[in-house]
Amino acid sequence: DLALLFAVLASSEVLAQDRRLNVLDPTSATNREITDLVIWSLVFSVIVLLGTGGALFYAVAKFRAKPGQTGDAPQFHGNNRLEVVLIAVPLLIVTILSILTAQSMARLNRAPEPAVVVDVKGWQFWWDFHYKNEGIRNSNEVVIPAGRPVLFNITSGDVIHSFWATSLGIKRDAIPMQSNRLVLTAEAPGVYYGQCAELCGASHANMLFRVIALPAEEYDAWVASVKAYQAPAPASANLQNGERVFAANCAACHAIQGTNYKGVAGPDLSYFGDRITLGAGIWPNTREYLIPWLKNPPKVKPGAKMPAFDGSKNATGQASVKLSDQEIEDLAAYLESLKLEDSRFDFKARKDL
Ligand code: CUA
Repeated sequence: DLALLFAVLASSEVLAQDRRLNVLDPTSATNREITDLVIWSLVFSVIVLLGTGGALFYAVAKFRAKPGQTGDAPQFHGNNRLEVVLIAVPLLIVTILSILTAQSMARLNRAPEPAVVVDVKGWQFWWDFHYKNEGIRNSNEVVIPAGRPVLFNITSGDVIHSFWATSLGIKRDAIPMQSNRLVLTAEAPGVYYGQCAELCGASHANMLFRVIALPAEEYDAWVASVKAYQAPAPASANLQNGERVFAANCAACHAIQGTNYKGVAGPDLSYFGDRITLGAGIWPNTREYLIPWLKNPPKVKPGAKMPAFDGSKNATGQASVKLSDQEIEDLAAYLESLKLEDSRFDFKARKDL
């Protein structure tokens, strides 16, 4: 898939868990259905390729002009036996593939009763995950219980996107004013790579996400922990300064649970410090990457709506706000301090997922 290829090429870092991006290495029953179909089509494609290619090479070798031969080769028309074979073989292949596809579709449509419901909303260029029943929210990293079916209700806030956890699921378009259902069950705990799979603008390839599947009882603890979450009060002068910078420059678009910051135009940052990635999955969430991200997001992610904070001019020639290096450092430290109390949910520190 081109989207995936570009995403891999565009990512400056491939994370350890991104080995789970392989579409043909299924990590759920849903993806296994599709992978089996792909392999069957591949088998028949190879048979057709070898059959037609072989016939071509045979004809070229057998019927080429012999030394001393002149004039046209003998002409003939029609061969009933050959015609029947040429119609019957493709018909057989298409029939077999149709039956296999119909069986797969029937199995996929018998989705189990979901244990968790997540409303997914695509935006240029990030993902909002809303657990309506639990009253909690996350951005760009969706946490689910392994072994339990999860229903994703998928929609979009602007243009058409497509929600695709490559090894875990199948693509489901995110269409404005419409909700598409997808039920997935991760077979094992882990971090799974996800990618927008519908061309949606300049940073389509930079619109990644991760699915974090926790052991089921740990997932329940995560939900409880998120429900009880209050952003920790800044514990040092630098963190206080970071919060001041956040309130002045970021709070209009970003929310943090347990504070007065309730912006909704950008990703919810409530437990940003626990996240594995930043910038909708394009970079590891470390200070080294966070600083250049905060200074100038559109530079690394074309079309990102978040403005620069390094005084540089935007596309319309307007100079951005310029924060000092110290202000950027303090803002980064403040964002990193936003963590759930239970250290198990500091996902970027986990090596076992
Ligand atoms: Cu969103 Cu492509």
